[in-house]
Amino acid sequence: MKICHTIAEMRAASRAARQDGRRLGFVPTMGALHAGHISLVRAARQQCDAVAVSIFVNPTQFGPKEDFSKYPRTFQRDRELLEAEGVAILFAPPTEEMYPPGATTFVTVEGLSEKLCGRSRPGHFRGVATVVAKLFNIVEPDLAFFGQKDSAQAVIIRRMVRDLAFDVEIVVCPIVREPDGLALSSRNAYLDPRQRKQATVLHRSLMRVEALADRGERDSARLVAAALDVFKEEPEVRLDYFEIVDRETLDPVADISQGALVAVAAFVGATRLIDNVVLPG
Ligand code: PAJ
Repeated sequence: MKICHTIAEMRAASRAARQDGRRLGFVPTMGALHAGHISLVRAARQQCDAVAVSIFVNPTQFGPKEDFSKYPRTFQRDRELLEAEGVAILFAPPTEEMYPPGATTFVTVEGLSEKLCGRSRPGHFRGVATVVAKLFNIVEPDLAFFGQKDSAQAVIIRRMVRDLAFDVEIVVCPIVREPDGLALSSRNAYLDPRQRKQATVLHRSLMRVEALADRGERDSARLVAAALDVFKEEPEVRLDYFEIVDRETLDPVADISQGALVAVAAFVGATRLIDNVVLPG
């Protein structure tokens, strides 16, 4: 596995990997890798000739009171995991390489960036879109792989790629979960054993909504009310939002007949967790 720390090294490695029409797959991450990340790497391996992974804890997508400085950094372990998965290139730039002094250019996907997590994390999706745009320009992948876990992020990246004509195909992969339903997340490492149990309430609330929808309930307000009842069983968990929205515009929908994205965010202690389920149309 080639490890690149500079943009110049990464560009050279990418050009070499893409010679003779070979397809390069790309998985952007912030490290602290778990089975969710690895599922993206495996999908990329299946669909491409070579895979590049980036590890970069992107400061511009964290709010001033968020966990940027304490975000888990496990580079040696991540490197070994990626090596074992047959990844060809690891891009791990220092912050100054991605944000040179005086960097003031940002990408904002207007109309989407302030929805769902964007409402409670102002500036978050601007940071995500900016760093992903820059990574696409540096890595120049044929395909890029994202997780459904961050559902709004996937929608925003797809829109950015279309609007700015990036020459990359976006692939969104299913959420990988623990046996009890909790979606894998690097932030699960913050949870103590008691919080770890409480954290399953996100998935349980989504399962309740899915079951009601399966039985024919179409009214979003009634579905949300049922989800809130599940949250009442865990009074120590603080709900940030529970929303039923259009899968492309992320605007709330009054009924789910055309299909919908059901998205939830909640604080378990100081740890903010998210999860979602897609209801088919
Ligand atoms: P990070 O949280 O490290 O996630 C990297 C990728 O892994 C994202 O596409 C995310 O959706 C996916 N992922 C995380 N948990 C998953 C799970 N349980 N199942 C499936 N996929 C999962 O998302 C980011 O980093 C950053 O915002 C980034 C795109 C790298 C830009 O900085």
